[in-house]
Amino acid sequence: MAAKKGHELRPNPRTGRYRLISGNWKMNLNHLEAIQLVQKLYFELRDVDYGFAEISLHPPATDLRSIQLLIESDRMRFSLGAQNCYYEASGAYTGEVSASMLAKLNVRYVIVGHSERRRIFGETDEVVAKKLAAVFSEQMTPILCVGETLEQREEGRTDDVLMGQVRAAVSELPGDLVSTLVIAYEPIWAIGTGRVATPDDAASGAQLIREELTTLYGEGVANAVRVQYGGSVTPITAAELLEAEGVDGLLVGGASLDADAFARIIRA
Ligand code: 13P
Repeated sequence: MAAKKGHELRPNPRTGRYRLISGNWKMNLNHLEAIQLVQKLYFELRDVDYGFAEISLHPPATDLRSIQLLIESDRMRFSLGAQNCYYEASGAYTGEVSASMLAKLNVRYVIVGHSERRRIFGETDEVVAKKLAAVFSEQMTPILCVGETLEQREEGRTDDVLMGQVRAAVSELPGDLVSTLVIAYEPIWAIGTGRVATPDDAASGAQLIREELTTLYGEGVANAVRVQYGGSVTPITAAELLEAEGVDGLLVGGASLDADAFARIIRA
């Protein structure tokens, strides 16, 4: 939808990259509750709030159609996002949803390889790579999640884990596609724990991700990729995390289920 003059989405003048703030609702809210939350968020935000960052909302799959219709009918400036998809185009895969089904709902961003999917549903790096390719093949943008566990961090393996996850996910893809990717650095020890990484932790995660991309594709691609921070972001921590070097946005879990809290994060 056309923004009022002066309220268009602006890139970060320091980096030239467009910020992205995403709400990952996880397995919360049925489609009726979802409509209420999006309406409430819409009423909380002013035109000026949309100029700083693009906002994507990632409801559960059963809510997508309702939220798509709401966003489009009221011309809300939210991008529709999904939390997952399967990599095959169609077939006997009971319970799964394909990338093309999401694309048909005008989904723009798809979270891929969230730590909960890796840990609870056994998603391997190989599966994550296939899903990334499937999302790209439908002209959507993946939000690739990477992050280390507390144990890996304490063993001093953060660099290896982050760089390895990035490499395994993207290395079969051409650089021009990779440059459009969003990568969320989500330290697992900070997800749903109330424990927030410091802005320095967020910056060093973003730096490791870009170092690996530079090795694989060169600086042009590495500097085009947007890196979000995710993990117990609140209205109080959002501003300093957004200021962290190399951080282009946030992937918010719990706080995105509260319209007031999410609006305050967007305004941060
Ligand atoms: P919380 O913000 O609830 O810690 O969740 C973070 C997350 O996993 C976002 O994808």
